[in-house]
This record gives sequence, C-alpha cells and structure tokens, in this order.
Amino acid sequence: MAKRVAVIGAGPSGLSTLRAFQQAEAGGAEVPEVVCFEKQDDWGGLWNYTWRTGLDANGEPVHGSMYRYLWSNGPKECLEMADYTFDHHFGQPIPSFPPRAVLADYILGRANAAGVRDKIRFETAVRGVTYMADAGKFKLVSEDLKTHVLKAEEFDNVIVATGHFSVPHIPNFEGIEGFPGRVLHGHDFRSANEFAGQDLVVVGGSYSAEDISLQCHKYGAKSVTISYRTAAMGFNWPESIREVPEITRVDGEMVHFKDGSSTRADTILMCTGYQHHFPFLSDTLKLRTTNRLNPPGLWKGVVWEANPQLMYVGMQDQFYTFSMFDLQAWFARDVCMGRIAVPSKDEMEADTAQWVAREESLENPHQQIDFQTDYCKHLASMVDYPSKDWDQAAANFVEWEHDKEHSITGYRNKAFKSCCTGTMAPVHHTAWLEAMDDSLETFMGAS
Ligand SMILES: Cc1cc2nc3c(=O)[nH]c(=O)nc-3n(C[C@H](O)[C@H](O)[C@H](O)COP(=O)(O)OP(=O)(O)OC[C@H]3O[C@@H](n4cnc5c(N)ncnc54)[C@H](O)[C@@H]3O)c2cc1C
Ligand SMILES: NC(=O)c1ccc[n+]([C@@H]2O[C@H](COP(=O)([O-])OP(=O)(O)OC[C@H]3O[C@@H](n4cnc5c(N)ncnc54)[C@H](OP(=O)(O)O)[C@@H]3O)[C@@H](O)[C@H]2O)c1
Repeated sequence: MAKRVAVIGAGPSGLSTLRAFQQAEAGGAEVPEVVCFEKQDDWGGLWNYTWRTGLDANGEPVHGSMYRYLWSNGPKECLEMADYTFDHHFGQPIPSFPPRAVLADYILGRANAAGVRDKIRFETAVRGVTYMADAGKFKLVSEDLKTHVLKAEEFDNVIVATGHFSVPHIPNFEGIEGFPGRVLHGHDFRSANEFAGQDLVVVGGSYSAEDISLQCHKYGAKSVTISYRTAAMGFNWPESIREVPEITRVDGEMVHFKDGSSTRADTILMCTGYQHHFPFLSDTLKLRTTNRLNPPGLWKGVVWEANPQLMYVGMQDQFYTFSMFDLQAWFARDVCMGRIAVPSKDEMEADTAQWVAREESLENPHQQIDFQTDYCKHLASMVDYPSKDWDQAAANFVEWEHDKEHSITGYRNKAFKSCCTGTMAPVHHTAWLEAMDDSLETFMGAS
C-alpha cells in the first residue's frame, strides 16, 4: 500500500507542502498519498481574511489574526517563492510592499497553478494525533465540522502546518478589570477606523505593536502610548505616538507606567504575542517553544527529533516567510520520500544544539537576519528548490531595517530588486501613509 502523509493546515506552510509533493510528482516521482486537513472553509491560513472574532461559523476559535488595512511589513522580494515569481503571477513588476489582498492573490495563485485544492478536506478539524508504536504509524482523528462526524485514519507521516500566530498571549495588569473602555488583543483587531479620535494604550514592543499603532495613527487615533516590557522600539514616531515602559497598574481610565508617568485611555490593545498551541497532538509529539528563530527539538527546524515521522513547517519566528516555508516543505517531502536520510537522535540533537547556541549568541537584528539567511541557504543546499539570491535577500532586509530607522511611516515607499528575477520593483503610486484604499485593483493601478 502506498505511504500516506497527513498535512494539517492549508495556510502558506501547508500549501508549500502540497506544492512540494506536486512538484516531485510532476517530475515523474512516485509520491505518497497526501491528505490535507483544514478547519476553515477556504485556504490561505491567516491570509484568508475574516471579519469574525471569537468563534467562527462552526463554533471553532477564529484562526485569523489579520486586519483590514494590513500591508506587508517586509519587502516582498525577501518572501518571493522561487518557483513562482511575482513577475510571473502578475505579468508585470509590482511595488515592494503589497497590501494583504495582493499577497493573498499571489500565494493562492501558485496553489491554483499547482492544482492541489483537491488534496484538501475543508471544514475538517484535526482533533487527535497519536503514535502507534506497534504499527509504526500515526492515528489521526478528524472532525467534519458540517456533520460532526469523527473519522480515524492511519498515516505514515504527519506534517503540522497549523501556524503559531492565532492563540494570543494575554498578560494581566493590576486593576485592569475596572477599566471602563475596551480591552482587546491584536488577534481580535480588525479595523483601525474603530479607534479614530481615541487615546490608545498599545502593549508590546514588536511587529504587531509597531504596525497596529501606525495603523491607528493613519486612520485617525488621537494618541497612541506604546508600553514596552524589555526595550523601546525607538523609531522616529509621529508626534501622537510615544513609548513608555511597562504598565504598573490601571486605575479607572488611567493607566500608570513604571517610569511614574500615566495616561488616560479609551482602549487598551495588547500586542503581546502568541502561543504555539497544538491541542490535537499527544504530549510526546507536542512542540513547546516560545517565538524564536530556532525552536529546540526540531532537526533542521523541521523534523521532530523524538519521532522523525512527525514534522513541523513554519514554526520559527519569521523574517523570511513563504520562501522559508517552501524550503522546509521541500525538506519534509524529501524526508517522507526517503530522499533525505534521518540520522540518529544523538546526531540530530547535536546538530540542533549548534543552531540553538548560535541563536542564543545573537545580539542584534542584523545578526538575526544573517542567522535565518544561513538557515535557508543550508536547507537550499539539501533540496531541489529553484535558486534564489539569498545574499541579496539578506541585503534587502538590512536596507529595510535602515529604512525603518530613517522613517517608520515612509519605509514602505521604497523599492527593492527581486532575488529571483533581478527585476527592480516600481515605486508605488501613493505613499503608504496616504494610501487608504488597500484593494488589489487600486494597488495595481497606474504606478
Ligand atoms: C497580524 C499578522 C500579520 C502578518 N503579516 C505578514 C506579512 O505581511 N508578510 C508575511 O510574509 N508574513 C506575515 N505574517 C506571518 C504569517 O505567519 C505568515 O505569512 C503565514 O500566514 C504563516 O503560514 P502558516 O501556514 O504557517 O500558518 P497560518 O497562516 O496560521 O495557517 C495555518 C492553518 O492551519 C489551520 N489549522 C489550525 N489548526 C487546525 C486543526 N486542528 N485542524 C485543521 N486545520 C487547522 C488554520 O485554519 C490555518 O488555515 C503575519 C502574521 C500576523 C499574525
Ligand atoms: N503588517 C504586517 O506585516 C504585520 C503586522 C503585525 C504583525 N506581523 C507579524 O506577526 C507576527 C507576530 O508579531 P507580534 O508582534 O504579534 O508577536 P512577537 O513578535 O512575538 O512579539 C510579542 C511582543 O509582546 C511583548 N510582551 C509579551 N508579554 C508582555 C507583557 N507582559 N508586557 C508587555 N509586553 C509583553 C513582547 O515583549 P518582550 O520584547 O519583552 O518579550 C514582544 O515585544 C510577526 O511575524 C510579525 O511579522 C506582521
């Protein structure tokens, strides 16, 4: 009987995995039977935008964390998929920082071209995965969310691609229960218009805090006070945005900070990160990690060392997104197909320990970019993924970091060179701060 592989999740990582198997099959290889499980009613993962928060139509926790006016926060040239370029998809060069709908169109364009939709069981949530040592296989239980019928099946390999930016981490602050305004997490933030005219406290010191604060500024918030825990982001913020240290207590509508300052707020918006959450995996299969570049326990960032028949795609903190998921998917595919031999557990652990030690020695974003670039180059050297100029991609990221330091509201107006085709992107027709319409049609309009 042919080998069976389960892929859990049809977001970018799951779609990369389906594409990897389809590419091998198109090249004449005999591939395993692949079944992808997706709890939403459509593909795209976080890019399948939803207005919903809380529970979805089936009563499942809403997966989506993306908001209406989200634009790419990194240059598209860094995440470009080497087997399906932006030039190819759009038939013309496009600017470097596309809005959400444009990036979604690109990801789904490749999935459509690969013809992998029929591999996916939609509205089917994976409820349980256990390893049956005697049979050397996994038992996977899924639920059809339309009929509530449970089904148990056996698989030789399981590839977890369920993402890790959906289950919020929400801290508590003294007195917050008495705050008269709204308290929400970035996971439930949808439209910045809602906060026009408001004084906001945004908690966090990373990408969500940065971008949601700027969104709210762009759509008319009166003021934004960003409260960091470890370090201020230190950008040259517009006048209505400032950074302060941690919240010490909330007293009515007043929020107090560690430096002795305080502010009145209409809303407290927590941009305090997410949890890796795999309720469907049995304990010995479960990755437990914070949001980091090299989660321990994963050989080459993919293979579960405690049971190499289980793999994870996309579990890292991400500079590179789609292009890194592709490399991991190609790698996972080759492990499933026996093209890559898995070494002993000791060897895997020793290899991972080196990457983890290097990650722990990193001192700044440039070193972090180099780390993930080296990781991608390393995977690329082991699989038949088409070539991409990774050094150029790293240089783009470094330039992007400088652009952000120079102007946090202007960095998206810059243009970069493709690391796949060498094409130079055009500068977008409207500066990001003035671009209120983020539709694909408007974005693609005359540059
Ligand atoms: C607010 C925000 C903005 C971002 N913006 C960008 C950006 O501009 N550019 C960029 O490159 N990246 C961005 N990212 C990073 C993002 O992580 C990746 O782009 C990408 O979506 C990750 O893909 P994934 O497939 O690993 O996970 P996801 O996109 O999260 O997809 C996982 C899929 O698994 C499914 N699933 C989960 N549990 C189950 C289950 N039990 N059974 C069946 N299916 C299940 C989900 O429904 C979902 O479809 C952003 C992330 C966030 C949170
Ligand atoms: N436009 C876009 O493209 C866009 C927009 C938003 C997000 N994203 C993506 O979304 C992903 C997730 O980003 P994220 O910022 O949500 O998560 P993140 O990068 O994991 O950062 C979590 C932040 O929460 C802070 N935090 C945690 N607990 C706290 C507490 N008790 N008090 C104060 N701060 C606390 C952390 O502070 P410490 O630093 O102290 O740990 C950290 O700054 C990233 O991949 C990002 O690229 C993209």
